[in-house]
Amino acid sequence: MPAIAASAPGKIILFGEHAVVYGRPAIAAPVLQASARAAVSANPAAPSGTVRIIARDLQLDSPLAALPVNHPLAAAVRETMRRMEIDALPACTLHVSSTIPPAAGLGSGTAVSAAIARAVSAFAGRPLTDEGVSEVAFRVDHLHHGTPSGVDNTVISYAQPIWFVRQQPFQLLRVAQPFTIVIGNTGVRSPTGAVVQDLRQRAAADPAAYENYFNIIAGITTQARACIEQGETGELGALLSQNHAVLQRLDVSLPLLDALVEAALRAGALGAKMSGGGRGGNMLALCAPQQAEAVTSALTAAGAVKTLTTTIQ
Ligand code: PMV
Repeated sequence: MPAIAASAPGKIILFGEHAVVYGRPAIAAPVLQASARAAVSANPAAPSGTVRIIARDLQLDSPLAALPVNHPLAAAVRETMRRMEIDALPACTLHVSSTIPPAAGLGSGTAVSAAIARAVSAFAGRPLTDEGVSEVAFRVDHLHHGTPSGVDNTVISYAQPIWFVRQQPFQLLRVAQPFTIVIGNTGVRSPTGAVVQDLRQRAAADPAAYENYFNIIAGITTQARACIEQGETGELGALLSQNHAVLQRLDVSLPLLDALVEAALRAGALGAKMSGGGRGGNMLALCAPQQAEAVTSALTAAGAVKTLTTTIQ
């Protein structure tokens, strides 16, 4: 029997990160150029219920049973089984790989969980819906980040631009005019959970000031939605830069992120901001398609270790 394979894309948060943790809206989109892949093949020679997990990128080749509960790949398999309400899988080998740069705000871990949920559930003959896949990915993220808002697992599982408010049904966004985004990676690894936790402490110490920042971000995100749905790309650029300025005030940016944002703007980008947890990871710049090359060169010259151009549509 051939392997059953599935994949899930990377993602980028366009507007509203951090504020989304406090109930404000966020806008996120899939990054289809990079993806995680999971493939399951039956292993009839092995004792029933034996699941072998191989992830060459992580130098992992282990039986599922030997991996701790908080191991992300094992957790994704176990959460998928829990969702399917089964105690054991037919003996099989699961291969996991990804082209999404890890720990860079592109949702690599979440995409791996989503790909595993899809492939394992299809292999077991009970393919999960997008909602089920999203739930599995959320539960694995929860294990690692503590209090994820749910935006990452949702955009990755549905693979479409979304409007997301915590604990509310998300909405698919209609993109009136596709737009080009250049993503620049600082190469600085920054665990999202730590930045979220640090911000939580500062926000608790001065709730009025931080509520005000989150409300400003919510206003920007709401305007951005209208621009995306009406195809007003120039205006969208200005809003990205405004969102970045508030994230700087929240102290979740980084000098290198600010330098990359500046470099993109000098190279002709319509707007730019950091994206995701911050203090490292990625920034993004909106530009006309013909400007993408100049923006990419400027980002590399300013210290980006990796760049990626994608179209949001
Ligand atoms: O670091 P990322 O790309 O996973 O994004 C985190 C986004 C936050 O709003 C900071 C946290 C969250 O759970 O939404």
